[in-house]
Amino acid sequence: MKALVLCGGAGSRLRPITHTSAKQLVPVANKPVLFYGLESIAAAGVTETGIVVGDTAQEIRRAVGDGSAFGLEVTYLPQDAPLGLAHAVLIARDFLGDDDFVMYLGDNFIVGGISGLVDDFRTERPDARILLTHVPEPTAFGVAELDDTGRVVSLEEKPQVPRSDLALVGVYLFTPAVHEAVRSIQPSRRGELEITDAIQWLLDQGRDVRATTISGYWKDTGNVTDMLEVNRTVLETLEPRVEGDVDASSEIIGRVRIEAGAKVFRSRVVGPAVIGAGTVIADSCIGPFSSIAEDCRIEGSEIEYSIVLRRATVAGVSRIEESLIGHSVEVTPAPSTPAVHRLVLGDHSRVQIAS
Ligand code: DAU
Repeated sequence: MKALVLCGGAGSRLRPITHTSAKQLVPVANKPVLFYGLESIAAAGVTETGIVVGDTAQEIRRAVGDGSAFGLEVTYLPQDAPLGLAHAVLIARDFLGDDDFVMYLGDNFIVGGISGLVDDFRTERPDARILLTHVPEPTAFGVAELDDTGRVVSLEEKPQVPRSDLALVGVYLFTPAVHEAVRSIQPSRRGELEITDAIQWLLDQGRDVRATTISGYWKDTGNVTDMLEVNRTVLETLEPRVEGDVDASSEIIGRVRIEAGAKVFRSRVVGPAVIGAGTVIADSCIGPFSSIAEDCRIEGSEIEYSIVLRRATVAGVSRIEESLIGHSVEVTPAPSTPAVHRLVLGDHSRVQIAS
């Protein structure tokens, strides 16, 4: 069994979260969302992994390298243009050979990993297995219709009138039967070769397509509330570890990770929380469910239930809650004092806050 991880497509420049990175590298608890996927592939006992890359190939290669840090052997598969998920399977044909494979969309996060699913697939070997989850806005996803016995009846990509609220999650298990399917379909209205259409083609041919419904799913949609929530979920499972310097007048409470090279002075950090390498926290209070990335400076401030990305500075700000602060952002005080600040700031923004 092999893995095919999709990290192609254009960068996510227009998103509020990060307009400098590949969306697969958006951090969850200070770790790129893609890394959780790679770890779960390795945990499922799969080693040979093809990563489809596009515009952001360099960033992905820099982050993942040869995959050995994850226990994987990674082969990069360049895709000239983001022509669709089924197109990614087409260009991966030589790499995949006649092996079964798990296809994993690099911007998807599956709580609890995929080991059970991969094991079941190895035993049962239907032609394809898809994962589904209930979502509030199915129009943004591929949508499945099941019959009363749970069999897949039909699939439709981003339907205007969805037949259910069951969205396709970005993890698919395939036998080589999918190769004929991806060669047989035509581009969709949005001009892409859709994997959803390839799976519908398998259904139309009477092939065995099975579905598993899961909970605990997230993808980067640019929605800050969802991102804070998945960050919270992951922080709750974090292994506490203090490797950075914490001075005697600071207090570390609960599930807190302070990475090597971080420094905490005269501050209080209440977990679950993570403080990245090279970050300095001084005269501040970092509250629960906060991820402060690497090389940040937090001084004389209070931050709770928030994500702060690399190299951001927050100084002299009384209270920040439910906020996402982008790379290299500076948040500093202005004359008057509102009680709470709620912020969504793009990378490199500069904001002055009354404090
Ligand atoms: O996330 C689940 C959804 O993913 C499913 O519900 C949909 O059925 C499926 O089509 C897909 O929809 P998206 O429109 O959200 O896919 P997106 O364009 O965001 O691409 C998903 C991942 O695949 C992302 O990491 C980029 C990568 N990709 C995408 C395309 C179109 C490629 O590597 N190559 C491509 O050509």
